Amino acid sequence: MPPPIPLSRGSRATVRVVGAAAALGAPGAGPAAAPDALLAAGLPERLNIRGILAEADAVLRPPAPPALDAPMAERLAAAGAYARRLADHLAALPADSLPLVLGGDHSVAVGTWRGIARRLQARGALGLIWIDAHLDSHTDASTHSGNIHGMPLAALLGEGAEALSGVPGPRLDPAHVCVVGARAWEDEELERLTRLGVHVFTMHEVRRRGLDTVFRDALAIARNGTAGFGVSLDLDAVDPAAMPAVLCPEPDGLDAQALADALHLLRGCGDVAALEIVEYLPERDPRGGCAAWVAAFAEAALGPGTHALREKEHRFGAHNYAPLPVVFQRGEGVWLWDVEGRRYLDMMGAYSAAAFGHSHPRLVRALTEQAGRLALTSRAFSNDRLPLLLERLCVMFGYRRALPVNTGLEAVETALKAARKWAYQVKGVPTDAAEIIACHGNFHGRSIAIVGLSSVAQYRHGFGPFPPGLKLVPYGDPQALEEAITPSTAAFLVEPVQAEGGIIVPPSGYLSRCAEICRRHNVLLIADEVQTGLGRTGRLLGCDHDGVRPDGLILGKALGGGLLPVSAFLADNAVMDVFQPGDHGSTFGGNPLGAAVALEVLDLLFETRIWEHAERLGAHLRERLAARRPPCVREIRGRGLLIGIELHPDGPSAALAAELLLARGLATRDTHRSVLRLSPPLIIDQDTAEWAVDTICDVLAALPQRH
Ligand SMILES: Cc1ncc(COP(=O)(O)O)c(C=O)c1O
Repeated sequence: MPPPIPLSRGSRATVRVVGAAAALGAPGAGPAAAPDALLAAGLPERLNIRGILAEADAVLRPPAPPALDAPMAERLAAAGAYARRLADHLAALPADSLPLVLGGDHSVAVGTWRGIARRLQARGALGLIWIDAHLDSHTDASTHSGNIHGMPLAALLGEGAEALSGVPGPRLDPAHVCVVGARAWEDEELERLTRLGVHVFTMHEVRRRGLDTVFRDALAIARNGTAGFGVSLDLDAVDPAAMPAVLCPEPDGLDAQALADALHLLRGCGDVAALEIVEYLPERDPRGGCAAWVAAFAEAALGPGTHALREKEHRFGAHNYAPLPVVFQRGEGVWLWDVEGRRYLDMMGAYSAAAFGHSHPRLVRALTEQAGRLALTSRAFSNDRLPLLLERLCVMFGYRRALPVNTGLEAVETALKAARKWAYQVKGVPTDAAEIIACHGNFHGRSIAIVGLSSVAQYRHGFGPFPPGLKLVPYGDPQALEEAITPSTAAFLVEPVQAEGGIIVPPSGYLSRCAEICRRHNVLLIADEVQTGLGRTGRLLGCDHDGVRPDGLILGKALGGGLLPVSAFLADNAVMDVFQPGDHGSTFGGNPLGAAVALEVLDLLFETRIWEHAERLGAHLRERLAARRPPCVREIRGRGLLIGIELHPDGPSAALAAELLLARGLATRDTHRSVLRLSPPLIIDQDTAEWAVDTICDVLAALPQRH
């Protein structure tokens, strides 16, 4: 056994989780329990699973707190003494560690940021982003409530009682400090911050400009001219609908997910000095939902960046893909977010699988509800979802039987096995003589049998020998099909549009001619609609463009709602009844989880008739592309929202165009070097799609043109 490989640190320091278990500034003791509750909920372990090297450091507990009605001086002295201890502790942590401080009430921040400023002192100033519903900028002279947790920002800026403001360490420079999300303050606080020159991004401004934009401005304030910066997150900044477990909830706060997205921007910042999360109240979080958000915020901010993750993928993964240089962490609708919080328009749609976009709420609900009930039984038993899916598939697509599998290639294999057995049992082809005909330029998957059908040298090279009885004919040429058919031909396997082959659209009427030829020769016409089916080409099925009903129909990709692999082969009894128990199967095929999602997909599909939108928008986009057509473009083609932009072979490569588009926030890929592929989620709206087309034309027009 080789020795275990230690997990790599990446470029990030080890995160030291420090508990500041004090509520000396709060009107109640609740927040003091927060660090223990978050540690018990497994926060460091969760961070470790997400690629962050995190270690629980210490939980600093204060001595018995003074009574709530004790004189202010006594309470300030206690809070100040605790802040000193915390500052000393943080200042002494190893230089290559990154502190994550879990409060406590917000008064602990005086200790956190004085300690962190000391760590940075030799190199320069500390910048600070204070995310909070409140301004926390009272002093003991101005406070209305008498609560010290309303004072830490003023103290860090050097104002107020010496007990707090005098905690050893550099004062914050107001020019490098800003507040984000404020929506509840008293005049004295705003006057103080305004006088000092601290920038306040109110909730009103966040709503108007978007948190992402505001947060980028906040980063500029905290980073420009500083040696490092920190983020102090008071959880009451978040809307109480998602974060009720705080001491002082204020309505209309930050959207929790938008905050997590913004915090991802920190992953791109090598100068993060510390993160602090305060004012969590475990007693109001019986189901742990708020603790999960705390972990999500920490993970968003401290997780590995693009470079570290790509390095791991390259180091530990087989090199059978060469992904573009982006690492996505979240998807919603037509948008994807990378680990540094950048947003991209998804013009790939996961090779047409994400037809309803990412995380469609109805599909996610179907998935999670079913996952909580029953996900897998194997087909040694029946489950209560699969029969409903089988019936729905047969009724909707007009076949007598369906056979469920997982990936598209399994469905293609299933179809080929059915066709061969049908040839022997029904057609009377001599044993082991059955032939399958497919088309040049096809893509049906990557198993040995299926790449045996491929005409692409790279897909085949080194993987032979292949099964016998596989033949190819030119795509779009019915005459060639007829000439290739022999008495032993079992099936003709064809894609209504060759997607991976370069978005090749056959001449109109091609499939109906093929169907007629197959009928005459008693050959099965099997349509691989893994990519073209379920609305992609502007009709329910790609075959519908030619009014053809194939003898066998292969569905996949979009059937799983972009959530998990669900595919199926559909045919009538004469074909499907060749299968007897034990002939064919798969452990996961027909599982109730996939069936529940696919049922919801089909419901959504017929409810929205999304193919009509795909037809209209696809035609509009092709027209718009044609009207602007940059000189390097040779041809624009496609059906519905499956569009190919072919570039001149002696001009710039489509791969280069895809990289440049990525830098403009548009994610797509080339196929076969010269074709740029557009297959966005079918739910994309017209304005967004037009933006995509205009961006593509701008990028293509700016490429060096050689032809
Ligand atoms: C037409 C077609 N058939 C089959 C497949 C294989 O599907 P999977 O990758 O799910 O195995 C693909 C995948 O791109 C495809 O486009």
